[in-house]
Amino acid sequence: MNILVLGSGGREHAFAYKLSQSPRCEKLFVAPGNAGTSFIANNVKLSVTDFQAIKQCVLANEIKMVVVGPEDPLVQGIYNFFKGDNALKNILLIGPSRRGALLEGSKQRAKEFMMHHNIPTAAYMAFTKESVEAGKQFLETLSPPYVLKADGLAAGKGVLIINDISEAKTELENMLSHSKFGAASEKVVVEEFLDGIELSIFVLTDGKNYKVLPTAKDYKRIGEGDKGLNTGGMGAISPVPFVDEVLMNKIEERIVKPTINGLIAEEIEYNGFVFIGLIIVNSEPFVIEYNVRMGDPETEVVLPRIDNDLVDLLEATAKQTLDQVTLEIDPRSATTVMVVSGGYPEAYEKGKKISGIERIGDSIVFHAGTIQKDGEVVTNGGRVLAITSLDKDFRIALKKSYQSIDELSFAKMYYRTDIGFDL
Ligand code: AMP
Ligand code: GLY
Repeated sequence: MNILVLGSGGREHAFAYKLSQSPRCEKLFVAPGNAGTSFIANNVKLSVTDFQAIKQCVLANEIKMVVVGPEDPLVQGIYNFFKGDNALKNILLIGPSRRGALLEGSKQRAKEFMMHHNIPTAAYMAFTKESVEAGKQFLETLSPPYVLKADGLAAGKGVLIINDISEAKTELENMLSHSKFGAASEKVVVEEFLDGIELSIFVLTDGKNYKVLPTAKDYKRIGEGDKGLNTGGMGAISPVPFVDEVLMNKIEERIVKPTINGLIAEEIEYNGFVFIGLIIVNSEPFVIEYNVRMGDPETEVVLPRIDNDLVDLLEATAKQTLDQVTLEIDPRSATTVMVVSGGYPEAYEKGKKISGIERIGDSIVFHAGTIQKDGEVVTNGGRVLAITSLDKDFRIALKKSYQSIDELSFAKMYYRTDIGFDL
């Protein structure tokens, strides 16, 4: 069948890479894609939230499956758009309905869902402009650090963790009364700080059945030792070495099952990925967030470990037959290290020629912010390449990723040399 992947990052290149290996994948399209996807698929210039343009592309190219990478089109209702259109309703769309996507699109909604279905999470209250004063009083009842979350999508920047109470009050006011994150912070969730170690769980569900995919841990800060500004993610490792059977059972019984049962009980159509961000406090798992898509760069370590034909797996997701699928997981560890543009996550330059990609043999090079220009691959974003390696031990895999990076160069190239330092 012909397949379209929506998005342009390392996550989408990893999806395209895996789909292109399936004998069932005929023509593969990525919109808008990057230089890496242009080598294995047809890039289509369109915006992932331009549903009419996507419809034209799907019909013109006889596409039978659409894999949605990022959250924006999901939160804007691409699933409902497809199901409500006679020409599109039979296309297999991988992603939740708009109501499902609200688990990421509204932090308050996600918290209410967790409370309603008894899913362990940090204690919280939600506030609006009208209740700023109550918000400040609530902050007084908590101990530092204080966690403030813009309710809506804020491109990964909407969470503030603040040590000082008066600064926390000021920021709460900035968010609610002075639109610090625009419409996204018209509501703010204030929650208890959880002190523990983070990891991510990925679940593929057809709305009835589910499969737990490999675990992963990402490294979000720009600097070594996990210091400095938050980024989209600077590297990832799968599986997470400290997740043993006891912890995994707790996660499945207390979090995964109640989440899927909650979707069923609320009659939410959901054919896609649930990315559950967890913090483990004294061996007990708590949910800090839901995302309704795969993570980036987590996808670059999770998908290479799935041995199933990805077309089969996603078709079963769209057709509610996941119960008939057995997941085949590569027991090796996968690591990925993000190579970024100097300056990221703040201002950085684009258009720098990248050299050395062709010399990398021991790792998979997933492109993120790259573009082809005059026959050369040049930088086109903050996160540029994700270098993934597999081996028996994550330390050996990491070594391979770093050796591969030694082959690469572009002006102001930067990467963290300490991915996995805490494991
Ligand atoms: P999010 O955008 O929800 O992923 O939050 C960004 C980051 O903030 C998370 O990856 C955590 O490191 C941190 N975080 C969010 N909520 C909490 C919490 N309740 N306690 C401690 N850290 C948190
Ligand atoms: N790496 C975190 C995310 O994709 O949200």
